[in-house]
Amino acid sequence: MDYRRAMRRTPLALALALSAGCAHPSAPGAAPPPAATEAPQTEFPPLLDIDDPAREPDVVFWPTPPSVVDKLLAELRVTKDDLVYDLGSGDGRIVIAAAKQYGARGVGFEIDAKLVEESRQKAREAGVEHLVTFERKDIFTLDLTPATVITLYILPGMIERMLPQLERVRPGTRIVSHNFPMRGVEPDRVVNADEPGRAHSLLFWTAPLKVPARRGAPPR
Ligand SMILES: C[S@@+](CC[C@H](N)C(=O)[O-])C[C@H]1O[C@@H](n2cnc3c(N)ncnc32)[C@H](O)[C@@H]1O
Repeated sequence: MDYRRAMRRTPLALALALSAGCAHPSAPGAAPPPAATEAPQTEFPPLLDIDDPAREPDVVFWPTPPSVVDKLLAELRVTKDDLVYDLGSGDGRIVIAAAKQYGARGVGFEIDAKLVEESRQKAREAGVEHLVTFERKDIFTLDLTPATVITLYILPGMIERMLPQLERVRPGTRIVSHNFPMRGVEPDRVVNADEPGRAHSLLFWTAPLKVPARRGAPPR
């Protein structure tokens, strides 16, 4: 099925829920940072301060249903030799399932400290804490080159912002996005993972990505 059609069938509620709080603090139109009152500002303050309690996730936690997780991992042909990175890992379900079902190693990167704790607890309960780790990290700061599999369930604007990181992954790395496209980069294939009453599609790429040259960018 054409993923654009699948996208149109994605319930509006899901899109709205995922979009809540998705404005990046540094994005145009986002509220300006509060004026400095005490210490003088450095000339180039860090864009993102993960320890800033006001730092909101760029998208809310909306879990991938278990049947879709299973299909995603099966379609990716995950094995014990894989290192799975889930970018915005929520409660850790994707890397935990990859470890439990296929013996894969995994790292979940998540900005919400409570979800990181919950994921670690769930990994212990599943008996896979020797295979998976969870780190409280901002996904826009990551080096993705160690991964052999990358899973995404984040908004199109976030995927677009990650393109420079995704372009640098090792050749052969498999990438999947649940429901959302990578603007300008056609997937190699799209798989339907509908559940009764809810549309899901899985979009797959294999690195290197065929990213169109950006206007004004130096040749790659
Ligand atoms: C839609 S949920 C997907 C959760 C999980 N990957 C799944 O498929 O079940 C997106 C997750 O990304 C996290 N998130 C949002 N912005 C983030 C950022 N900049 N860095 C790391 N995690 C982020 C949210 O807290 C949320 O848990």
